[in-house]
Amino acid sequence: MKILVLTGSARNGNSSKLADAFIEGAKEAGHDVSRINCAKLKVGGCLGCNYCYKHDSICCQKDDFASLRDDLVAADAIVFASPVYYYGLSSQLRAVIDRFYAIDGKLHAPKRTALLLSLADDAEKTAMPARVHYEGFTSYLGWSDAGQIIAYGCTEPDDILKTDAIAKARELGKNI
Ligand SMILES: Cc1cc2nc3c(=O)[nH]c(=O)nc-3n(C[C@H](O)[C@H](O)[C@H](O)COP(=O)(O)O)c2cc1C
Repeated sequence: MKILVLTGSARNGNSSKLADAFIEGAKEAGHDVSRINCAKLKVGGCLGCNYCYKHDSICCQKDDFASLRDDLVAADAIVFASPVYYYGLSSQLRAVIDRFYAIDGKLHAPKRTALLLSLADDAEKTAMPARVHYEGFTSYLGWSDAGQIIAYGCTEPDDILKTDAIAKARELGKNI
């Protein structure tokens, strides 16, 4: 499969390490994996102008989303790796997801998907809003969830290394 991993943290921390492990597993299984850090892109929020409706799914904003468009459409699987920021996915990743709107028609296609999430808290309810968002848009697009790795108690960038989430992410990569 052609797998696209979208990460959403500006630092090389917990969610990025989850992505590393996932990619290692997926490559071991023979998948073709590419990775894009949404936190390094300049992607504006959707303007809701519906320009894309009348212009063959092209967004009127000339920013880095244009460079993602073809990869998103071509991927057999899309994986989202994010820290929890104020009970949600990071805004950098959310900006990219909102901009799916422009290519909505092209994204309604069978794809596998997965969520790799890290957060400081230990409570399941803190991860829930991000998970509900992920489950909402992926099921709307008709994608099938291959798994969700939720790494609790990760504050410092290396805290993830003390958890079993890295091994789980590698397994998920192998089995997606
Ligand atoms: C702006 C910001 C908001 C955060 N909000 C939450 C939160 O609502 N709940 C939580 O448990 N952790 C929160 N955290 C902690 C991060 O989710 C946690 O440190 C995560 O593992 C960071 O991932 P990273 O190392 O991949 O950047 C927040 C951190 C930042 C910087």
